[in-house]
Amino acid sequence: MLVSATEMLRKARDGKYAVGQFNINNLEWTKAILLTAQELNSPVILGVSEGAGKYMTGFETVAAMVAAMDKSLGITVPVALHLDHGSYEGCYKCIKAGFTSIMFDGSHFPIDENVSKTTELVNVAHGLGLSIEAEVGAIGGEEDGVIGKGECADPKECKMIADLGVDFLAAGIGNIHGVYPSNWEGLSFDTLEAINKTVGEMPLVLHGGTGIPDDMIKKAISLGVAKINVNTECQLVFAEATRGYIEAGKDQQGKGFDPRKLLAPGFEAIKAKVKEKMELFGSVNKA
Ligand code: 13P
Repeated sequence: MLVSATEMLRKARDGKYAVGQFNINNLEWTKAILLTAQELNSPVILGVSEGAGKYMTGFETVAAMVAAMDKSLGITVPVALHLDHGSYEGCYKCIKAGFTSIMFDGSHFPIDENVSKTTELVNVAHGLGLSIEAEVGAIGGEEDGVIGKGECADPKECKMIADLGVDFLAAGIGNIHGVYPSNWEGLSFDTLEAINKTVGEMPLVLHGGTGIPDDMIKKAISLGVAKINVNTECQLVFAEATRGYIEAGKDQQGKGFDPRKLLAPGFEAIKAKVKEKMELFGSVNKA
């Protein structure tokens, strides 16, 4: 059931668990995530970066595919279709295409410009029943060509953006997109605690979910994180399972080259990874 992410994240914040945002790249990704959410009776957020949207031939194609798949698979758990790290223009494209949620990433703008653009988009999104995420303090690493330094957000700036009426807030706390380097210092819980105190009941978003140790995930949830984004980890398990299939020569046995067979191990690997994350985040049976 396609819905905005507002209600599911408020419930998660109150219930001290987190809803996973899993990024999608194609039909297999989408189907694997939707089926797992339904099997586990968990709410879920499908994240679409601008790059992935382009790859799938545009946000309209994505919105049409997700809406049709949601219906044809008989998905009854709450599903939000969410733009990940959206530009100002990208937000308008997704609103028009039928997304149920957007993220405006104005973190690279001076704070005044982040405030004015976020204010406008909050009004537009809420007028149409969509939820909106904003960001303060760049998330480190690289995501689809967008490179962030991984700075910690300023709690005062977080409060300014939260007060604009956004539904959930991404704040940098030393998290990085992609695989964490071996010398990573870990999440800054002092920063998270300070932000959580200043923004009140606002659900917080943890980007860069790949490779964050389980104990840090649990501590982050206890300090107000209600949405955790995972992308790279699904890509890694998909690649590993596909490589295993090909290296075992299975694509050359019978009709093993059939894409429905060739992509099946990767599909199953994504399902297992999403299940593992939903169990860790505590969203199972919270639909
Ligand atoms: P990872 O690729 O590190 O899991 O990060 C995903 C993310 O934060 C999407 O916005």
